[in-house]
Formats: sequence, structure tokens, C-alpha cells
Amino acid sequence: MCGIFAYLNYLVEKDRRYIINTLLTGLSRLEYRGYDSLAVNGDKENEFLIFREVGKVAALRAKIESQSTLDMNKKFLSHTSMAHTRWATHGQPCEKNSHPHRSDPNNEFIVVHNGIITNYKELRTILEKNGYLFESDTDTECIAKLAKYIWDNHAKGSKPTFTTLVKAVCKELEGAFAIIVKSTHFPDEVIATRRGSPLLIGVKTQKKLKVDFVDVEFGGAEAPAAVAQPKGNSLLAPINPSHPPMQRSQSRAFLSDDGMPQPIEYFLASDPSAIVEHTKRVLYLEDGDIAHIDEGELHIHRLRRDDNMSTMRQIQTLEMELAEIMKGSFDHFMQKEIYEQPESVVNTMRGRVNFDTRTVTLGGLSTYLATIRRCRRIVFVACGTSYHSCIATRAIFEELTEIPISVELASDFLDRKTPIFRDDVCVFVSQSGETADTILALRYCLERGALCVGITNTVGSSISRETHCGVHINAGPEIGVASTKAYTSQFIALVMMALQLSEDRISKTERRNAIIDDLCRLPQVIKETLALDNELKQLSRESLVKQASLLIMGRGYQNATCLEGALKIKELSYMHSEGILAGELKHGPLALIDENMPVILIMTKDSLYPKVQSALQQVTARKGHPIIICNTNDSNIPDKYRTIRVPQLVDCLQGLITVIPLQLLSYHIAVARGVNVDFPRNLAKSVTVE
Ligand code: UD1
Ligand code: BG6
Repeated sequence: MCGIFAYLNYLVEKDRRYIINTLLTGLSRLEYRGYDSLAVNGDKENEFLIFREVGKVAALRAKIESQSTLDMNKKFLSHTSMAHTRWATHGQPCEKNSHPHRSDPNNEFIVVHNGIITNYKELRTILEKNGYLFESDTDTECIAKLAKYIWDNHAKGSKPTFTTLVKAVCKELEGAFAIIVKSTHFPDEVIATRRGSPLLIGVKTQKKLKVDFVDVEFGGAEAPAAVAQPKGNSLLAPINPSHPPMQRSQSRAFLSDDGMPQPIEYFLASDPSAIVEHTKRVLYLEDGDIAHIDEGELHIHRLRRDDNMSTMRQIQTLEMELAEIMKGSFDHFMQKEIYEQPESVVNTMRGRVNFDTRTVTLGGLSTYLATIRRCRRIVFVACGTSYHSCIATRAIFEELTEIPISVELASDFLDRKTPIFRDDVCVFVSQSGETADTILALRYCLERGALCVGITNTVGSSISRETHCGVHINAGPEIGVASTKAYTSQFIALVMMALQLSEDRISKTERRNAIIDDLCRLPQVIKETLALDNELKQLSRESLVKQASLLIMGRGYQNATCLEGALKIKELSYMHSEGILAGELKHGPLALIDENMPVILIMTKDSLYPKVQSALQQVTARKGHPIIICNTNDSNIPDKYRTIRVPQLVDCLQGLITVIPLQLLSYHIAVARGVNVDFPRNLAKSVTVE
């Protein structure tokens, strides 16, 4: 949701200009998450400069550049700094609500935070009663104030270590968070910790790291015992001063040959796209990890001992290139991503579909196929566009596997406390792999013993790591908030899964072969559909831009396309739009139809064609003039209708093609309305809070 970024250099001399630039570039890579942003940077000893600006990162850059008194050439051999781009969950987007939030005017503790603290009101009330004055409307500020409160409650001589202090703070926090904390009491040190929100650490050294992992430290590191407050207020109890000091083992990875710390740079971020241009060596923190960086060494402690948790954190190599996350010659990321679909669908199928032998092999599922085939039912769980990809493939999944399928919106699934059993298979579909509702649903199903399968685009994401098995859709990074290429790749991944699960069913061979043959045609057919772009741009300007509403109708396999098309239109152009199942028309939506109501009808050639023709008649009988999305070879459509003609594919894959004109229409309507396509208002790419 929000984006956080921090940069530390140790024994690697950098000037202030470099440090600020690193922070600003880090923020701009995360900018698709947020609306306002700020950066911070240290100056003299124990002084921290904070720059805040509402809006885009460019405005923050301009503000910093206009500070004539700031010595940009000042050099720092070792230095810590951090930055944040904010998506307003609590409080308006304005300077006072921008991060980092501080404990007091001397910045004794400052915090950047991604996520949501659900008990912040209670914490704030208690802290205010104790004389801590709040400066913002955010939930984050209570973290900084709480750190100071705990610190202040310890007499000189028995102050906690930085790690112990942050542990005590985390124990009081409820909700989801990734936080980075800095303190004047611990200059040049940084603590980063997470619970439910993503956080990773990039490492850059000149020499190769000695080992590819960091040991988790437990010795003396258990969360400190709390001592009840005199007035029965145990919530903010101070740390037991007699708690033994933390034991520190050496982080072997970061030592040089002579055992001394070596020059090193660390890049901490909520998303790998902010790190990849600096280093590809990264370490993903797990929930409850407390990473402490001090004198060039990274130490990882645990909030609580967990015997099921690995005691090592692997340093992995990111496989993403910066070029992959740049816009190239396109005006917007969304446009680029729509145009990438001929390649992204190939990447999803690469090494998995053999078009000669007509077989599908999903490496991630191979050892689980028998269990999945034996299950009582499959439950798909997702949000937004990912949910639509489940709706789109449900019918073919049921047809090929003959296993009952239910499709659930993650939030509703949780609200209903849906019964889940050990013989269920639950499939979690998420582009980011970090959507809070989907992760919570996953954990709910894990607790109930179901086999949990992930379908995600992000290797190393929470869903990818916490599921038993799964499929990476390999669509490449998707930056536009409105999901496009991830939708088509999720669709294909789910179809591939159904194909593989049904490979032992002789009766389905013909059907399977027809699908695999058309998967092979897909890149070419997508290219032909993208060639409609100019026509669609014209259509959007002539007929749609000024409308207040747009209904998109279809049935069967096209129901998902209608829902997804309507979601694209509303999220991008802020125009009301509804996806309507044509079979439901006479049960309500028909009342909306008159000569002024814009309608798009999807009428491609499949077994339901006659029924959609009947819907067309119902609409025209009420003086409606629908625009019809139909197949290029359809000669039944009278000339009086405006048509968008797309190539025909086997029925269950047709939705991969019919969605493309709707992606393009929504894009052009949004551009024509002057809306910022990549940053629709009030929306975020990755919704990491409930
Ligand atoms: C894997 C490699 C790929 C390599 C190929 C060669 C990775 C990420 N992929 O691809 O680079 O070219 O083998 O055979 O290393 N998983 C989950 N949950 C998810 C998604 C995936 O648990 O949500 C698991 C899978 O079960 C699997 C692993 O992650 O164990 C990798 O999945 P995936 O990338 O889909 O596997 P392959 O296509 O075999
Ligand atoms: C957000 C995005 O709402 O999350 C949507 O704006 C997306 O585009 C939805 O479909 C679900 O995200 P994910 O990452 O779980 O697929």
C-alpha cells in the first residue's frame, strides 16, 4: 500500500547528493503505490533532516533542490537514511501526515511504516494520557511515541538495546506492518521488522559474501518480560530492566577474510523494484523477523521463538531487470502492459506447454497432482481482477476435472468464516502475492489443514512462500494499478492447471487438444486484436468519453469479461460501469435500458450464441443501440450495429481475447478524460491492509 525505502552505507563514502538521489529514485520506483511522498536524510551527528511534500516524488525532489543552505557535497563514510511514499489510510494526504513520524521534536525515534495499526486509537489514548502530544492523524505516529514512552520509562543505566526496545513496541502493536526505525540513541543503526506487510533487504558488497544466508539469532533475544504498571495498565508496561542483554553472534555473511566488517551498502524496501537497480542480492524478511543493521552487519532476531520457522534467511538473487519495470516508449505503464500480452502469455506457457505432444507440465504442482485430483472440492480465493480470472476459468476447470469448484472473494470468504476441511484444495490467485485479504484467507485455510495452492506473479511474495505449492504466472512486473497482463496470464495458468489435472482422462482428450492448439495461436491472435487500437481510440472519443454510465453484457464464458471490463472502466475513467450477466437481464437490469444507455454486448460464437442473440433483441426492443463485440467471421450481425470484431478461439479461451478491447477502451476513455491512468485516485496496486 504505502512504499518504504531505506539506504545505509557503511565504510563506503557517499555524498549527500548521492544519498538523496538514491532515496528519491527508490521512491519513484514505488510511486505507483502512493500519492504523497517524502524523504529523510541525516546531517550532523544526532541531527536528522526531514523533507516532506504532498504529491509526486518530482515535487519532493524540487523542494530539496530548492534548499540553498543544504550542502549536497557533504561526504558521509557511513550513513543511514530512509524514505516513504504514502497511501492515505488514516488522515488526509498532507505534510503533517507524511512519514517518518517522530517521537518528539528531537527525533529520538523516527519511523516509516507500511500497513495499518488497528489498535492505534487505544495506544494513542494511553500515550496522550501520559503526556505524549500527537502531531498527525496517522496510526503510524503511535509507534514512534510508544518507543519513546518505553525508553523514557527506563532509568539511565538500564536502558534497553535497540532490538529489545523494538520488540517491546511490536508486542503492543496489532494489525499489519512493515516498519523501519531509526533513533538518535542508536546513531547509524537501523531496525526493520514486519508482520503481514512485505519487506526485503538488498545487500551490495564489492567482495562476494562469505555465505549465502544469515542465521536467525535467538540467544537472549526472547521478547522481554513485561512488568505490570502500578495502575494496572499492563498494555504499556516497561521492559524488565533485569532482562539480560542480547547476545550477538556474528553475521558470517558480512565479514571480510580477516573477520572484520567489510564496506557494505544496504537497501531496504517494501518492493524489489526499488532495489533491483542497486543490487540483485536480496533477503526477504519473514513475519516476526527483527532485522538490526549496525556497523555494517545485519542481524536477524525473532519476536518470538517459533520451532517451525527456519533459523536461516537465504540471500537470493533477483531475476528481474530494471528495464522490465521501466515504461519504454509507451505513455503509461498500463498501455505498455496491455501491449506486452503477446509476449507475457508466452512467458506464462514457456517450458510448461508442449504444443507438439499436447501436454502440460507445471513443475510447481507435479508432486501434488494426485492429492488435488482426490480432493472433495476446489475453492478459488482472490480479490479484484484476480477474482475475475477465477470466474473466467471456473467452467473449464469443472468440465475438465469434474471436481466441484467454488469461487470466493477473499474478504467475503473471511467474513463468512467459510467451512474448510482437510480434503479441500484452496487456490489463492494474486498478482502481487501480497494482498492482505487473500493472505488472511490463505492462513485461515492452512490452519484448517487444506492443501493451499498459490497462483501468483511475484516470486518470493508472501503467498508464493506460504502456500504448499503453486504456479508462478511469470507475466513480468506489472506496475499499472489496473491489472491487465496479469489477468490474461492468471487465466492461462488456471487453464494449464485444469489441463494438467485432467491429463489422465481419455474422454477429455479431444477437448484438451483443441484448447492446447488454441493456446499455441494465442500470441498471434492477441497481436491481431491489439491492431484494433486506433479504431477503439476513435470509438471511445466519439461515443463513450462523455457518457455517465456503461453496461457490459454477456453470458457463459464471457461473464468474467463483462465483470473485468466494467472494473477496468470504473477504476480508470471513474465512469459508472456494470458487468451484467445477460441471463439476468430480465430480472432487473433491463429497466436501465433506453435509447440513451450505452451498452456493450459480447456475442462471440459459442454454444450460448442464440441466447445472447435473444439478449440483443431484448435490448434493441427497448431502443438500446449496443456496440457488439463479436468474432471476425460472424456474418449474422446486421450492419446497423457498431461492432468490434475479434478473432475466434475455442470457447473457454475466447475471454482472453474479448477482454483486450475493453482494456484498450478503458485506457483511452481515461486518457481522454485527463485521468492519470497509472495512478487512479483512491486505489493502490497492492492492497496490503484488510
Ligand atoms: C521453476 C523455476 C524456474 C525454472 C524452472 C525449471 C523458480 C521460481 N522457478 O519453475 O526459474 O526455469 O523451475 O524447471 O525458481 N510455488 C508456491 N506457491 C506459489 C507459486 C509457486 O509454493 O504461489 C512453488 C511451486 O510449487 C514450486 C516453486 O514455487 O515449488 C516454483 O514455482 P514455479 O516457478 O511455478 O515452478 P516452475 O515452473 O517449475
Ligand atoms: C488491487 C488492485 O485492488 O488489488 C487490483 O488495484 C487487483 O488491480 C487487486 O486486481 C488484487 O490484487 P492481487 O495482487 O492480489 O492480484
